[in-house]
Amino acid sequence: MILDGKACSEDLLDVLKEEIGKSGLHPRLATLIVGSDPGSQMYIRMKHRACEKVGIGSVAIDLPAGVTTDRVLQDVRRLNDDPDIDGILVQLPLPAAIRSEQVIRSIRADKDVDGFHPCNLGLLFAGSPRFVPCTPKGIMTLLEKNHIGVAGQHAVVVGRSIDVGRPMAALFSNADATVTLCHSRTRNLSDETRRADILVSAVGKPMTIRAGMVKEGAVVIDVGINQIGGKLVGDVDFAPVREIASAITPVPGGVGPMTIATLMENTFLAAKWRVCDPVW
Ligand code: GUN
Repeated sequence: MILDGKACSEDLLDVLKEEIGKSGLHPRLATLIVGSDPGSQMYIRMKHRACEKVGIGSVAIDLPAGVTTDRVLQDVRRLNDDPDIDGILVQLPLPAAIRSEQVIRSIRADKDVDGFHPCNLGLLFAGSPRFVPCTPKGIMTLLEKNHIGVAGQHAVVVGRSIDVGRPMAALFSNADATVTLCHSRTRNLSDETRRADILVSAVGKPMTIRAGMVKEGAVVIDVGINQIGGKLVGDVDFAPVREIASAITPVPGGVGPMTIATLMENTFLAAKWRVCDPVW
């Protein structure tokens, strides 16, 4: 089975559009990007397009590559204090000269629709999540919508980034899976991946997962987005792995669209929590 993230995300956006319309709320997302990396600029455009589709207002802040950390912090503080902004997203990666961790920590936790603030990651790991990072949350939605159960399964996650690998492991653990979190220093990666009932690769390197590394019937989720000669490929050697897996996400059209739809979901949640559930 091919796990069609594009179709699933479109369904999710349709439902959100209806719910936002009925809510009487006018959620607004602010994005901030530094520099002109074409990939990042493209993602930002896709996020704004999704906002338009579901009826979320959006503002885009576009800073030149050479700005200082202080300049970025100044904009984040202004957005933090702006009562008309529900969600704030700072596109990553930031240029190397900018202190990313300080920028992420400066975003108000109750506007952190990316879920990267340590408060939100901490709540997720404590088992009482508020904002959950969009990619792993989108993957859980994709599994659920395809009736793929997680409880009792052995989930193996390759990659331990704060935006995907670590929160993915926490979500699986919270959903009663047995979790192995692998990374660049894992010995005999194949031994670990071959034990997976559900295998998630979030490495960003083509051919990380080859057919010999996958158990017959496993569910394979490919988070990688890599450009090879103008073509997008994931981390997984798709054609041979597809023959072994019971279900697999394509690249493009798998995890990527789910991430964007989930950002819309989180922005709507931010607006709802602001009016009816001020727990922060
Ligand atoms: N860069 C790549 N993916 C993401 C994401 O989900 N959020 C942000 N802010 N930056 C990213």
